[in-house]
Amino acid sequence: MKKILITGGAGFIGSHVIRLFVNKYPDIQIFNLDKLTYAGNLLNLSDIESKPNYTFIKGDIVDAPFIDALFAKHQFDGVIHLAAESHVDRSISGPMEFIFTNIIGTANLLNAFKATWKDFTGKLFYHVSTDEVYGSLGDEGLFTETTPYDPKSPYSASKASSDHIVRAYCHTYGLPVVISNCSNNYGPNQFPEKLLPLMINNIRHNKALPIYGKGENVRDWLYVIDHARAIDLVFWKGKMGETYNIGGNNEWTNIDLVHKLCEIMDRKLGREPATSAKLITYVTDRAGHDLRYAIDASKIKNELGWEPSLKFDEGFDITVDWYLSNKEWLDNVTSGDYQKYYDEQYL
Ligand code: NAD
Ligand code: DAU
Repeated sequence: MKKILITGGAGFIGSHVIRLFVNKYPDIQIFNLDKLTYAGNLLNLSDIESKPNYTFIKGDIVDAPFIDALFAKHQFDGVIHLAAESHVDRSISGPMEFIFTNIIGTANLLNAFKATWKDFTGKLFYHVSTDEVYGSLGDEGLFTETTPYDPKSPYSASKASSDHIVRAYCHTYGLPVVISNCSNNYGPNQFPEKLLPLMINNIRHNKALPIYGKGENVRDWLYVIDHARAIDLVFWKGKMGETYNIGGNNEWTNIDLVHKLCEIMDRKLGREPATSAKLITYVTDRAGHDLRYAIDASKIKNELGWEPSLKFDEGFDITVDWYLSNKEWLDNVTSGDYQKYYDEQYL
């Protein structure tokens, strides 16, 4: 492959994928297509922006004529599609943006990819998706690649729709596709509306730590660079038309995780033990809150040899240190519209 398009590369996971590909494949031109919504930030890529094999393109995947022209001009050999509206709470307060970007935007990319190539040999469309398409687990069991889809939020329903459309283009038109469904990521550069960076930022500012409901919901946490490594592997080695689940084998209830974070933050900020935990505030539960997600990642382990490389304690420590030493980044991304949105919800 000579040209790979990565969408959503200015966002959290996308920026780690861009960095990995730009550094690892100097002979491949890497194009980053991003609308730069509130969640996209070019600061995330300042260390690689001047590399000769990297090009940034500002644009909206919902704009079909723009996407068609872009593909006609560059003839991308491969696409790794991450651009999306990604925050469940926002999908509850405003679902339409999710429907436009996640469903229509994905279909626009598929159409443009299909129109570009008469012969699909050596080409690939990789759709990066989420474990939330499977719905919610009870106390037992894990999501496998054959778990029936049962999305519950507007976000997960929009991602499930896009997964189905990607598979339909594979089945109907023979488009070469691969899909992965990953659990909750954590790490540097995550927008501070998601649980961990939100809590870190609030502890910094001595603000309340809002725990939805009783805090008993469970998530399976994976370090973002391990997800980027898995994406690299699936892109080159994944079997056409297949789906791979990616997860951390690392389940935490929200309240236990926030208590762990509070202890670490007290230590790192030189505060008395149990200071940050006093900020924990139970608030109204998220509407339709999924109880538990947990991934069975044995397929990607057995077929492609992927496993998380970092132990959770290491990844967690690196993450907290990153936010504490990148206060300017945090202040930059939380200025403007975001603060208004957040304050309206919680203050
Ligand atoms: P993010 O919100 O941090 O980044 C999304 C990026 O997409 C931003 O840079 C944004 O500007 C861009 N974007 C949004 N709408 C666009 C549009 N219409 N056109 C072009 N660009 C647009 O998201 P993330 O957490 O990095 O997630 C990336 C992908 O991975 C998403 O598809 C998400 O569903 C999936 N995913 C995320 C997680 C997670 O834990 N964060 C887990 C599994 C899967
Ligand atoms: O499972 C993968 C998904 O993980 C991704 O597809 C999504 O893009 C990503 O946002 C994430 O979804 P969650 O809803 O699980 O992540 P979030 O960080 O929003 O919330 C994690 C848990 O913490 C969830 O049970 C809700 C809870 N929560 C969240 C926030 C923001 C709180 O209790 N308080 C909060 O303030």
